[in-house]
Amino acid sequence: MSEANLYPVPEHFKKNAAIDLARYKAMYEQSVNSPDTFWAEQATSFLTWQQPWTQVTNSNLRKGEVAWFINGKLNVSVNCIDRHLPARANQTAIIWEGDDPAEDQFITYQELHDQVCRLTNALRERGVKKGDRVCIYMPMIPEASYAMLACARIGAIHSVVFGGFSPEALKDRIQDADCQVVITADEGLRGGKRVPLKKNTDIALNHCPKVHTCIVVKRTGGDVQWREGRDFWYEDLVAHQPSEAESAIVDSEDPLFILYTSGSTGKPKGVLHTTGGYLLQAAMTHKYVFDYQEGDIYWCTADVGWVTGHSYIVYGPLANGATTLMFEGVPTYPDASRCWQVIDKHGVNIFYTAPTAIRALMGAGNDYVTKTSRASLKVLGSVGEPINPEAWEWYYRVVGDSRCPIMDTWWQTETGAHMLTPLPGAIDLKPGSATVPFFGVQPVLLDADGKEVVGAGEGNLCIKAAWPGQIRTVFGDHQRCVDTYYSTYPGYYFTGDGARRDADGYYWITGRVDDVLNVSGHRMGTAEVESALVLHDKVAEAAVVGYPHDIKGQGIYAYVTLMAGEQPSDELKKELLALVVKEIGAIARPDIIQWAPGLPKTRSGKIMRRILRKIAANELDSLGDTSTLADPAVVNELIDNRANQ
Ligand code: WT7
Repeated sequence: MSEANLYPVPEHFKKNAAIDLARYKAMYEQSVNSPDTFWAEQATSFLTWQQPWTQVTNSNLRKGEVAWFINGKLNVSVNCIDRHLPARANQTAIIWEGDDPAEDQFITYQELHDQVCRLTNALRERGVKKGDRVCIYMPMIPEASYAMLACARIGAIHSVVFGGFSPEALKDRIQDADCQVVITADEGLRGGKRVPLKKNTDIALNHCPKVHTCIVVKRTGGDVQWREGRDFWYEDLVAHQPSEAESAIVDSEDPLFILYTSGSTGKPKGVLHTTGGYLLQAAMTHKYVFDYQEGDIYWCTADVGWVTGHSYIVYGPLANGATTLMFEGVPTYPDASRCWQVIDKHGVNIFYTAPTAIRALMGAGNDYVTKTSRASLKVLGSVGEPINPEAWEWYYRVVGDSRCPIMDTWWQTETGAHMLTPLPGAIDLKPGSATVPFFGVQPVLLDADGKEVVGAGEGNLCIKAAWPGQIRTVFGDHQRCVDTYYSTYPGYYFTGDGARRDADGYYWITGRVDDVLNVSGHRMGTAEVESALVLHDKVAEAAVVGYPHDIKGQGIYAYVTLMAGEQPSDELKKELLALVVKEIGAIARPDIIQWAPGLPKTRSGKIMRRILRKIAANELDSLGDTSTLADPAVVNELIDNRANQ
């Protein structure tokens, strides 16, 4: 990487940020050489414990066993709310910005406390106890965070399901986690469009007889169906409740939440996170990575249905007593100026979004940005997929007026919090690189033989020692957790990503090395989309791959083989697209369906995806060796067919 593409730490950050380069180095060294001392200090300074731990960590990556702050007791809602009250009762905890620019709400820490306590009491009245699973299927409204925090207060385990998922996907998640209570809204509102959340929930609940309570927030007032005895208006349940509620004493290793995410095979996995380690890493990264300072207004544009929303809208910022902005809408509504207007309206200092949004807004033209001030901004963030240097430069120059460093944060649902990331006062930036490891994180690149790559080089990105925010298990299937993350390279956590390390020790994520797609920063298993397609009775077989897409990063390309005698038609394509939307949700809708009379397979019947990826990307001169295929002619057929799509 040439010097020209190096963005040095701005002088004022060097002086004023919590961590400069010397401090980063010293702290990093301590974090890997004396992890117990390091993490004990951080856990004491960031969190309030009801009972101290007896051992900092007891982890064994060979066995996939991870535990932090053994025997420590704390409550997440106390850490995110109650302990701030003496100093911050009247400070805004949540700024809610509605889909409609005329709608907003400012919720103080006191109000947050009262709302969370009321809901806690209501949930307890409906029988929710410590360890129970509660499904949250909600739009981006304050009640979503009340619901998460009320579960945490009880010690119940929440499973937030993104509001864009279909009834079918919701049903699978409710059943897998064995939830008996669902919290939803009548409808969501995004970009002026209504999302029928209660209707979707009703369809899902037809197959979930164990759900005895469905709590519904009235958001739009739209028509909904009602099942007496099961359905309750949120407002009715909380109205008469006292604004105090006891907080459960929770063990550091008691579960906080389950969040489903896609893998390369089978159904989505319920990634389980626990209490102490997760909250510590969320809080610490929120402070250090964004150089969060007292009084800053902080905005992460994610949805609470993803881990980014968990760690960086709710838990990290609230644990730090910050003011966190929660946005109901989309970046392009009413127009592409919305984000920048919201930044000016609320004086946002820290803005954290995804490359796909940046690329879409970049495409809309600079005027939408330059007509706003954005003078309040000091730090920008990026998350979810590699950010291409062009989008990085635009974000830096046009949005940040060449003044605000960009924190390109690499992490995963499973890691709980940032793992590779710059720090604004310490690390020089290189566009497209997630730079260096956060404290305590020991990344390694492993070659095909499982050997650690030394110095500059490329390999599969693995992590060599446990970290506090790490996945603890896959809910209900610990063996799947071991198989997925710990069996490929014994003794290491395997991320599923490939990466390159340059001569300066900076990491460059090259993308997934497994059959997982990253579509607009959303994780999607090719197997999930394939399973949906083959449900159609005219479909014999389907193979799904990713291909480069200007806005989404990756698009979904589906090859479909029909049953003998069936004819391809546009009508059938529409049916297939609708089927995927029904089974998973609109985020999984293939961008391209190509009819495939046959698929390239090895003689043992394995589909050679490498070839399908090349054809999808239109990289026809680098198909590689096709001689081992059972029927090499299939490839030319697909190439000819491609032109006719
Ligand atoms: C996968 C994890 C992290 C929360 C949102 C997504 C990709 C994520 C980056 C980044 C390059 C990134 C990886 C990772 N990814 N952030 N800054 N640079 N790639 O969480 O749904 O669990 O997806 O997203 O491929 O494995 P997720």
